[in-house]
Amino acid sequence: MMLGLTATIHMVAKSLSTEIFLVILGLLIIINRPDIVDEKNRVQSIPTQQLLAEYDYVIIGGGSAGAVLANRLSEDKDRTVLLLEAGDNEEILSDVPNNMGILYHSSSDWDFKTEPSSNYCLSMNNHQCYWPRGKILGGSSVINGMLYIRGNKRDYDSWAALGNVGWDYKSVLPYFKKSEDARAEELAESPYHQKGGYLTIERFRYKSPIDDYIIHSGEELGYKVHDVNGENQTGFTYAYGTLRDGLRCSTAKAFLRPASKRKNLHVSLQSFVENILVKKDGTSKIVYGVQFLKGRRRVIKAKREVILSAGAIQSPKLLMLSGIGPKDHLEEMNIPVVHHAPGVGQNLQDHVGMAGITYIVDPPRKMTRSEWNRFTRNLSRIGNLESIQELIQNSSGPLYSHVLSAGMAFIKTKYADKMIDYPDVQLHFSGASDYGPLVANMNMVNSKTVTTLYKNITQNVQAFGIFPCILRPRSRGFIKLKSSDPKEAPIIVPNYFKDSHDLQVLVESMRFLQKMVRTDLMRKLNARLNSNTIPECSHFDISSDEYWACYARHFTSTIFHPVSTCKMGPINDSHAVVDDRLRVHGVANLRVIDASIMPHIISGNTNAPTIMIAEKGADMIKEDWL
Ligand SMILES: Cc1cc2nc3c(=O)[nH]c(=O)nc-3n(C[C@H](O)[C@H](O)[C@H](O)COP(=O)(O)OP(=O)(O)OC[C@H]3O[C@@H](n4cnc5c(N)ncnc54)[C@H](O)[C@@H]3O)c2cc1C
Ligand SMILES: *[C@@H]1O[C@H](CO)[C@@H](O)[C@H](O)[C@H]1NC(C)=O
Ligand SMILES: *[C@@H]1O[C@H](CO)[C@@H](O)[C@H](O)[C@H]1NC(C)=O
Ligand SMILES: *[C@@H]1O[C@H](CO)[C@@H](O)[C@H](O)[C@H]1NC(C)=O
Ligand SMILES: *[C@@H]1O[C@H](CO)[C@@H](O)[C@H](O)[C@H]1NC(C)=O
Ligand SMILES: *[C@@H]1O[C@H](CO)[C@@H](O)[C@H](O)[C@H]1NC(C)=O
Repeated sequence: MMLGLTATIHMVAKSLSTEIFLVILGLLIIINRPDIVDEKNRVQSIPTQQLLAEYDYVIIGGGSAGAVLANRLSEDKDRTVLLLEAGDNEEILSDVPNNMGILYHSSSDWDFKTEPSSNYCLSMNNHQCYWPRGKILGGSSVINGMLYIRGNKRDYDSWAALGNVGWDYKSVLPYFKKSEDARAEELAESPYHQKGGYLTIERFRYKSPIDDYIIHSGEELGYKVHDVNGENQTGFTYAYGTLRDGLRCSTAKAFLRPASKRKNLHVSLQSFVENILVKKDGTSKIVYGVQFLKGRRRVIKAKREVILSAGAIQSPKLLMLSGIGPKDHLEEMNIPVVHHAPGVGQNLQDHVGMAGITYIVDPPRKMTRSEWNRFTRNLSRIGNLESIQELIQNSSGPLYSHVLSAGMAFIKTKYADKMIDYPDVQLHFSGASDYGPLVANMNMVNSKTVTTLYKNITQNVQAFGIFPCILRPRSRGFIKLKSSDPKEAPIIVPNYFKDSHDLQVLVESMRFLQKMVRTDLMRKLNARLNSNTIPECSHFDISSDEYWACYARHFTSTIFHPVSTCKMGPINDSHAVVDDRLRVHGVANLRVIDASIMPHIISGNTNAPTIMIAEKGADMIKEDWL
């Protein structure tokens, strides 16, 4: 059946457009890969007529954090749990790692944009950066890069030093491990990892020869290739992902599918929360339910607590819509002030970097056409029937690769402390020849820049890309409401590079890249920087700091790690929104549990830390109601 079908399609479509490719891939998965379709285990949304009037716990947002909470809180059969998610169920195509990005701008994406800036994202239309966020069960874990990184031990010790008891590294490590099902052999003996949890961690299944050259070039510079989630962070590594059998393992797959048959857990999809309901009792403010839209406006009560897990953009937004936030701003929006909380929406931090940096290489020896084709990856080359066939028949092939990050490194610029393991820059390595145009497209860079910058990257060129980003930015941005209408997207101002130190660190990372391409391993490939320049920066010498500062301000890219907009901290910190048990200061029966509570950003990708926060938060809720 399968072969007959592909043969026929082959006749019709020798070179596939992305749309046709995805249709064929989807069709063949439905027919041939019941493991991906996973019909039996997919979460069913509760029909509205079966919704209860009241639940013990109401969770807002079924993303990275919310999915974990729904599972853990419903472990207790005597407690009822309602999970409200604005989006719909997961789709089959997002399971394929190489398809990262296909849900951008779709109905499963909140599709945010930052306010126009004169300091960053200058190559984007209207100087606005694009910020995708998952609007789907599993939230941003369904659209993210799947990279499994925990951050640096010192990040958590510093959270604890700010007065957050129980958040030091030693205390959070058990919660990272609790979720984890580490399947990579080399992690089996490590005291930092564990098998048997819900969240499967694997290495990406497919590797190109170029990846080995990139990762091992670090060794010549004195860096180890090792587990960057282990003893020491500084070093190089192949990418590990939230992957199961090579395919995306979102938190919906990991935590919700196994829990969804529990009678005491109701998951309601396409349920858009507008408001958290608070009553005043004397001077106390007490949360008693939520108001949401599904077909019509509905109110559901929470006997114990409402848990807000709408993410770093929408959790502060929902607090403000409910009258919890900076007094002046709420008044300006005509929202009755329930509780003055000046830190709501403030303290926004993100990992900003410069994208699209491309090195051209010559494969080290004569190769057959097919070997040559696979020395690096190229999305257009991968988007063919051979790749689909490998995925369908053999569960392998380039569709199992990560387009943007085959591996990464945590390195120190001259600004970092040489004596300690606290790198200040992360590099993501892409073994894709068309990484540049691809990432430009993902970031919505204007076409003039793309055609100028990548005019050399043609069919017969092999290349790879490096994306440096800063790990501990000093700049702080904010989220505010545009109006009191819940449907309206918020104002997002990340303030990248507002503190010039951030730009200096990023520019300094180019010095490292220059050293890296001069290693013997890279010389074997004759690796050389793409010599084309961003039009607006071309008056600077390409090897100067000025050029790279200009580049960073134009081809600005985040890896989408906004955090800290409802930060955790003690009551005497006026900008702390939640305490160290994640309860909102000054409002009873309400917690925030998601990426927004980080006191400050951690030194690495933020998904695993968010899952850890939810694991720990779930335990705290259970303890507090004992
Ligand atoms: C494109 C992209 C790539 C990334 N790559 C990586 C990576 O490779 N590795 C990594 O570690 N991290 C990565 N991240 C970051 C990581 O995915 C996030 O930090 C993490 O998912 C945040 O989890 P969260 O629970 O705070 O929010 P989310 O996962 O975004 O969940 C919030 C949920 O709340 C729902 N919601 C919001 N408002 C409402 C409402 N009013 N009513 C009902 N529901 C609502 C949303 O639909 C969503 O499901 C990436 C993020 C993006 C966007
Ligand atoms: C971690 O780094 C320290 C200091 O450089 C070193 O002594 C130690 O051996 C490293 N541990 C591992 C597991 O690499
Ligand atoms: C099938 O997968 C195995 C590894 O999983 C690989 O060694 C083999 O080359 C693949 N075969 C084909 C035809 O792709
Ligand atoms: C990628 O492959 C396609 C199809 O073979 C080709 O047209 C394109 O030029 C290639 N791009 C790169 C950067 O190799
Ligand atoms: C890019 O192409 C130009 C000519 O268009 C050439 O001068 C330059 O050397 C090329 N750069 C690289 C890195 O191949
Ligand atoms: C806040 O209180 C803690 C003790 O709970 C104390 O250690 C800290 O110094 C105080 N911070 C400020 C800014 O007052």
